[in-house]
Amino acid sequence: MPKARANSTLPEYDVHDLGLAEAGRKRIEWADKQMPVLRRIRDRFAKELPLKGQRLGACLHITCETANLLRALKAGGAEVFACASNPLSTQDDVAAALVDQYDIPTYAIHGEDRDTYYSHLRAVLERHPTITMDDGADLVSLLHTEYASLAEQVKASMEETTTGVIRLRAMAKDGALKIPVVAVNDAQTKHLFDNRYGTGQSTLDGIIRATGVLIAGSVIVVAGYGYCGRGIASRARGLGADVIVTEVDPIRALEAAMDGFRVMKMIDAAKVADIFITATGDKHVLSSVHFGLMRDGAFLSNSGHFDVEIDMAYLTDTAKKVEKNVTRNVDAYHLSNGRVVYVLGEGRLVNLACAEGHPAQVMDMSFATQAMASEWAAKAKHLEIKVHEVPVEIEQDVAAVKLAAMGIKLDTLTAEQKKYLASWESGT
Ligand code: NAI
Repeated sequence: MPKARANSTLPEYDVHDLGLAEAGRKRIEWADKQMPVLRRIRDRFAKELPLKGQRLGACLHITCETANLLRALKAGGAEVFACASNPLSTQDDVAAALVDQYDIPTYAIHGEDRDTYYSHLRAVLERHPTITMDDGADLVSLLHTEYASLAEQVKASMEETTTGVIRLRAMAKDGALKIPVVAVNDAQTKHLFDNRYGTGQSTLDGIIRATGVLIAGSVIVVAGYGYCGRGIASRARGLGADVIVTEVDPIRALEAAMDGFRVMKMIDAAKVADIFITATGDKHVLSSVHFGLMRDGAFLSNSGHFDVEIDMAYLTDTAKKVEKNVTRNVDAYHLSNGRVVYVLGEGRLVNLACAEGHPAQVMDMSFATQAMASEWAAKAKHLEIKVHEVPVEIEQDVAAVKLAAMGIKLDTLTAEQKKYLASWESGT
């Protein structure tokens, strides 16, 4: 454990090994090359210092891309400190580089246990942030319980993912929300691209890295046809899988069927799948009623935010034997019926636990949206205590810069077309 801060029992940082910092720096700079929108923001922030005076506490997956977001926020004048938003998603070399190369106090260790995970969240809150950034709302939730007295100082909190936004809306509905929050996930420049193309590619990447399985010819069940599920299903099909979708929402089930996927109940899909991928934000999507029906050797993975989509407690309690790490990041569960099922990344986000999360090109848009939403919140004179949408101008700016970086040009409306589209008189 590193030395404590002056006049405090709080450590200055807590990472696995500072010796990894140089390797982390190289990967952060490699990712930076693929993040032109965020780079442009970082350069502008360095000149304008829109976050000067803010203490920004970020609870995010500690990856190369996140490091580039934190660099941009620091360039904007904020005092920045960070912790992990998932015990298995931290890249230890990145955490080391943040501390050693970028002077950003970081509390994150890959594989940390639950107590350490929460001690790291506390370390961030004990630095009294004025802006928080969350991925799944664990930090905001702790702020509202153990650290409620700090809420007054918090100008706003940014939320990165669907599950976090759902939790925050539930808090607002219960009258429990004490700070303004910004639903970054709900910006089109975030969920349309990150949740779909990012999760689509990186989920398959995680499964392939963990198992080495051939996707072509495999029967893959995708639970949930939301933004993530659509991306995963289409990428799995692209690699040659026979894809089945399960849903609870009739519109989304219909959409999946018309996109050409087989749609069925999980109880039926459980009998035929080689690989299961949950992406619902819901709990126990794979549960006691399904495990016994599964084929011998089935792979179980989750890409939803929390590790509750697969009922791991039931599986652990009822398995005859559990073999950890039969190959890296894969645990074998020997069921009472004699079959074996393999769980990837302990049922946590498979794309982060077994791979490195989304490609930098897509995180460029998510984190550009995060950075500009933070600037917007920092500059606001007063923000109402509620869940705010990201202003549409931010989305348009991020999309325009991304298109320019990709060398894509688009048409513009003529004056005549603008007039036509705004009128109602002309018809048949
Ligand atoms: P979404 O709300 O667009 O889609 C979720 C879908 O799951 C909905 O269509 C819903 O009807 C369906 N669903 C709910 N319960 C179900 C059940 N029991 N069986 C079958 N379907 C069910 O949400 P989105 O954006 O696709 O996110 C899904 C989850 O993935 C969330 O937890 C989100 O936080 C997480 N996420 C994970 C990422 C990653 O890197 N792995 C990236 C972005 C989001």
